[in-house]
Amino acid sequence: MRSYCRAASACTVRVGRMPARTAMSLFLGACFTSACSGHSSPSVLDPAGPGARRIEGLWWLMFWISAVVFVVTVAMIGYALLNARRSDRPPTEARWAEGFVVVAGAIVPSLILAAVFVVSLRETSALSTTAQTPDLVVEVVAHDWWWEVVYDDGERGVATANEIHIPAGRRVELRLTSDDVIHSLWVPRLQAKTDMTPGKTTRMWIEADEPGTYRGQCAEFCGLQHANMIFFVIAEDPDDFETWLANESQDAAAAGTEGEEVFLSSTCVGCHAIRGTSADSPIGPDLTHLASRTTIAAGVLANDRSNLARWIVDPQSVKPGAAMPPTELAPDELDALLDYLEELR
Ligand code: CUA
Repeated sequence: MRSYCRAASACTVRVGRMPARTAMSLFLGACFTSACSGHSSPSVLDPAGPGARRIEGLWWLMFWISAVVFVVTVAMIGYALLNARRSDRPPTEARWAEGFVVVAGAIVPSLILAAVFVVSLRETSALSTTAQTPDLVVEVVAHDWWWEVVYDDGERGVATANEIHIPAGRRVELRLTSDDVIHSLWVPRLQAKTDMTPGKTTRMWIEADEPGTYRGQCAEFCGLQHANMIFFVIAEDPDDFETWLANESQDAAAAGTEGEEVFLSSTCVGCHAIRGTSADSPIGPDLTHLASRTTIAAGVLANDRSNLARWIVDPQSVKPGAAMPPTELAPDELDALLDYLEELR
């Protein structure tokens, strides 16, 4: 309790020195809690790319129009209440009031709504129009409850999970679909949300100004673990991105180890693929470069040895309802398997 109060008072002091718009975005972003502290606040009012900046601009335009309308309306209600009992009104006042109601009650609101509608249409069109010939296309397939991410550049066919690596400063096209129910891909600091529908491919673009990690979230209720369907967009310098992609296209390291043997003789192979081995099931996430990812279980756990062990042995305690079944292994087998998985960089 004491540490909570200390944190809260520190927060108040800092908000006091903050510009109003940063404080507002903190307030509004607070409902969007992060499982991984240290990643940037995923608020639409803290944009990190041209898409989210358009949304922020529209948001503030609507906010200030609403604020002005609210203040004017309250002032007029106050004026009316204060003058309701006056009996010395000149006869011209009734006619003046009728005209005022028509202008302020119908004409001005119609003009404001029409203007906001036109601006919204313009922004929605800009947010949803993808390039004719995109530089980079990434396919994202939503599953209950994780994200399959595929870079299809012909020969390499890189597949990863729950992390979308992109080059910073470049517009990347995402092709979205779902394997089961309707999901929605949302990275608040980069772009508007886009639905992912089974049997249909939708397209959207995404762009980050600077290298960084931007949290994303499924934004359409999709079942028990909807809130734990998290991912990260990792924007890198274009050279670093190419290095990452080249590494991801390599087959798995640590071939011929004891841990690989454990993996290939366990139930893991029923659902997971590791390129360069005989495991090639497309049901669960591709594990070829598992150790290069920051989280496991779609953003729920940090990717470290003890969490990996917990996830393998008792996944239902981490993510009840997930398709991952528990795996029974002797302690030395589990150790060898963890050694192997940690080598998959
Ligand atoms: Cu997937 Cu909510």
